[in-house]
Amino acid sequence: MSTARRARVRALAKINLDLRVLSQRPDGYHELRTIFHTISLADTIDLAFTRARKTVIEIQDPLQLPDNLAVKAARLTLEAMGVSGRVAIRLVKRIPTGAGLGGGSSDAAAVLLALPVLAGRALALPVLAQIAAELGSDVPFFLLGGAAVGIGRGTELFPLPDAPSRPGLLAVPEVHVSTAEAYRLLSPRLTSESKQNKIFSFQSLALAGGVSESGCNDFEAVVMEQHPRLALLKRRLEQAGAAPALMSGSGSAVFGLFRTRDQAFRARNGLSGEKAVGISLVNRARYRTMWWRALQEHIDQRLWPPRSRYVR
Ligand code: C5P
Repeated sequence: MSTARRARVRALAKINLDLRVLSQRPDGYHELRTIFHTISLADTIDLAFTRARKTVIEIQDPLQLPDNLAVKAARLTLEAMGVSGRVAIRLVKRIPTGAGLGGGSSDAAAVLLALPVLAGRALALPVLAQIAAELGSDVPFFLLGGAAVGIGRGTELFPLPDAPSRPGLLAVPEVHVSTAEAYRLLSPRLTSESKQNKIFSFQSLALAGGVSESGCNDFEAVVMEQHPRLALLKRRLEQAGAAPALMSGSGSAVFGLFRTRDQAFRARNGLSGEKAVGISLVNRARYRTMWWRALQEHIDQRLWPPRSRYVR
């Protein structure tokens, strides 16, 4: 094979429907309890693979992000498959960075899912999950999609059943939050007493299926203190009827979920002057169908993770 195999895939953003930070662990990371959900906002990735003796990975990224995680994902995937070749990645970014929406992580996971299909090798899910966790704490979730509970660093995942989609609105302020910095601010405030309460209240939300009208995010207190504008956005969304209205991850994006599309649409007027995008929750069935469609030319069965038809 010397001609390129190509695919255009969408890398979806995530929100956290709940996020509790329990304590700092001996390895420096923090112990989490969170509920992830994929949403309709997405980057587009054009991926091309050509078998070659020497590995060359190129990326076209208008934002010129340094140390793009998608490139690292391509390198680790080729190594795991024992394959060399030319990988060309073209990235169209729509997911804002530094917003707590997992954009870079999703781009990386998209490469992990698509590259083996183009290269004609199958990597088992546990192998992909291990590479994903090496790339970043949010990456493994995008190998699953839909709604999932994340514990530990956020890399131990438990899928939640698909619930009906809900319309939402995502406010994206011009604020870039560093995740590492947000953890540094939060860490001194964590106590063992609050840990027990957090585990208990998180548990009730997880048992209810994850998608509910309540939820909380432990980063809000510290990040909103630094950026009061975010607290204002949350209030505006609540006033417009959002339940819940929460910051995603370590911020800065704030989302609201609504009962009706009309309500979400009207909420946009309350955010005048602020950049806002309409979103919907994307469940696991839709997530997988999206992937199978994007790779249909290169697969012949609807398996998860997508499996190349070139595997002998
Ligand atoms: O894993 P990732 O590279 O995305 O994490 C970015 C930073 O966020 C880490 O360097 C660490 O400071 C912090 N982090 C943490 N606990 C987690 C996840 C991330 O302290 N569970």
